[in-house]
Amino acid sequence: MRAFHPRALCLAVLALAALALEAQSSTPSLRQAFAPYFALGAAVQPVFLDSGNPRAELLAEQFGALVAENCMKPETLEAAEGVFRFKDADKIVAFAARNGMSVRGHTLVWHQQTPLWFFSDPDKPTQAASRDTLLAREKLYIQTVVGHFRGRIRAWDVVNEALNEDGSLRGPAEGSTWMGIAGPDYIDKAFVWAHEVDPDALLVINDYNLESSPAKLDGMCGLVKGLLARGIPVGAVGLQMHVSVYSPDVESVRRAIGRLSALGLKVQVTEMDMSIYRGSEAARPVTDEILADQASRYGELFTLFREEGRAGRLDMVMLWGLSDDQSWRNDFPVAGRADAPLLFDSNLRPKPAFQAVLDAAGTP
Ligand code: XIL
Repeated sequence: MRAFHPRALCLAVLALAALALEAQSSTPSLRQAFAPYFALGAAVQPVFLDSGNPRAELLAEQFGALVAENCMKPETLEAAEGVFRFKDADKIVAFAARNGMSVRGHTLVWHQQTPLWFFSDPDKPTQAASRDTLLAREKLYIQTVVGHFRGRIRAWDVVNEALNEDGSLRGPAEGSTWMGIAGPDYIDKAFVWAHEVDPDALLVINDYNLESSPAKLDGMCGLVKGLLARGIPVGAVGLQMHVSVYSPDVESVRRAIGRLSALGLKVQVTEMDMSIYRGSEAARPVTDEILADQASRYGELFTLFREEGRAGRLDMVMLWGLSDDQSWRNDFPVAGRADAPLLFDSNLRPKPAFQAVLDAAGTP
């Protein structure tokens, strides 16, 4: 038998190594595919990022940005007055830095997931705080939190869900104790204080249904015009985009991005997921057919996002989670109803929607 020449062996090994490298670098990655247009990201729970957790690897491979699904909200960061807890949030920011990802901060001022002490009188907790107390707490919270992450958060959701469906400002009857105690000033002040502490962060006003409710979109345009006229440093509007396979249509989304960006600011898609249900209908099996419909809807929306990103109007696109098993939509709006709104299935395998989104990036 002829022995292999050492040089031939060496060349064969090199050729194999090159093939392996090529295979590795040709693993399709959403992160790379969309990089020319916008940073594509996902909402995470800190446990996903533990070393050895397969989610950590998948996130770093597929996404260029992260946002905390819950642990950067006031109820986690300042559960008790004056006691800040940054451990989980720091873990996310550190993981992002190690993997060259950008971070969205979510969210500073919101009527939900904010501890009750914020709104209670310091001496008589059963009574409401005064306007001065609430504004002082708001200021200290923003200074501390934005200051803690200064230079490491690319965009902050400064105010979340301030509007009603008819476009008016959400008041105490619709759950906003901020409005009830402080009045609309709480919005202007939040942006001013955040900007003072981190002038480089893009400051976002974030809400849902802007693409599906014309009255709410009008309300947002009016609110933003007022903020800009008063010199308030709002830099972008966030469209949450908790959509469904059935609605909204692409044209409504295009119109919303067009109207908001015409006011002179960026638009971001901040919390996208796509329910397989119409509203509150009863649970049904996840069929190949519905997954194919979902893929085509994801595909057409991401084709729009790519165009809007290329035109400089859309700046970041975040999915509200990584895989179906962990999505908040398994419980909302119907408790216990299993949904399938994301790009990866419960075994972290890419769904048809993943491929459709990847295809929507086209070739740069
Ligand atoms: C949701 C989280 O996904 C859930 O885990 C949590 O129980 C409630 O909040 N709009 C927002 C997000 O701005 O913060 C919400 O996140 C989803 C709706």
